[in-house]
Amino acid sequence: MSQTLAGKVVVITGASGGLGAATALALGRRGCHLVLGARRRDQLTEVAQQVRRLGGQAEVQICDVAQRAQVRQLLALAQKKFSRVDVAIANAGFGLCAAVADITDAQMEEIWRVNFLGTWYVMAEAAALMRPRGTGHIIVISSAVARRALPYMGAYAATKAAQLSLVEAQRLELTGSGVTVSSVHPVSTRTNFFTVAAQRSGCRVKALGIIQSAESVAEKIVRLVERPRPELWPHRASRWALGLAAVLPALTDYAMRRLLRSCHRGKGQHAARH
Ligand SMILES: NC(=O)c1ccc[n+]([C@@H]2O[C@H](COP(=O)([O-])OP(=O)(O)OC[C@H]3O[C@@H](n4cnc5c(N)ncnc54)[C@H](OP(=O)(O)O)[C@@H]3O)[C@@H](O)[C@H]2O)c1
Repeated sequence: MSQTLAGKVVVITGASGGLGAATALALGRRGCHLVLGARRRDQLTEVAQQVRRLGGQAEVQICDVAQRAQVRQLLALAQKKFSRVDVAIANAGFGLCAAVADITDAQMEEIWRVNFLGTWYVMAEAAALMRPRGTGHIIVISSAVARRALPYMGAYAATKAAQLSLVEAQRLELTGSGVTVSSVHPVSTRTNFFTVAAQRSGCRVKALGIIQSAESVAEKIVRLVERPRPELWPHRASRWALGLAAVLPALTDYAMRRLLRSCHRGKGQHAARH
């Protein structure tokens, strides 16, 4: 059991599956006290039971991050059960695959409500609890596409870039307060993300490029909790590639077109990496 992590109180949104659940298990194994939120109670309860079997403590609460009151209640549960929130991880989110011109009003509003507003609610509510204590760590699960959008993933990438802007601003706003703020930028990760994106988009969605396991990303998030820093790029080379993309946008467009041509599987199906 980790000396630095045992007993840390960590709140995670979107903890019923994927990266959120993998992170809960990785932190639970180190003896963290977890407060897990998502919309599906059965899956949340199953994750909490696994955390307890690994030696951690876990509480669950239904939390739709699009509802600010529910985010506040999730953090309040941590306060009630464990007297504080050491780490808040804004992880809940989903992808959408559609051309910019084809996104419906309802799709656009929903993705901003969950990915952007849901993240902002966690950041704002967590900061309100952490600041008076003079300690805490807010972690936002963004994406590699925060730095470079992909075709058919424009709305999703826009929410991830906007999350990053909030993180950059809040980190400086909280300088000297004892509260740190970090963003995490995974490339494609093996979770239900693509299945959910396909259901929401009405077309098949396939990961492009390198695919990481949720467990390997979760282990890196554990290290971020142990040693906070501004940004975590679980696939380090993608950080440098995207830095280069910012300097050479035309060359990047060319490379992306070639990659997409080789990956397209026919009408109505978009290949996406994020
Ligand atoms: N997988 C990837 O390739 C990848 C790459 C980069 C970044 N990310 C980011 O990683 C995060 C986690 O995604 P994932 O890959 O683990 O996908 P996932 O397997 O689909 O899990 C998404 C989680 O978010 C929860 N969620 C969705 N909408 C919610 C809402 N309105 N309120 C509360 N919880 C909600 C889901 O639980 P319920 O349905 O039970 O609410 C689920 O637990 C997302 O922010 C995603 O953008 C993923």
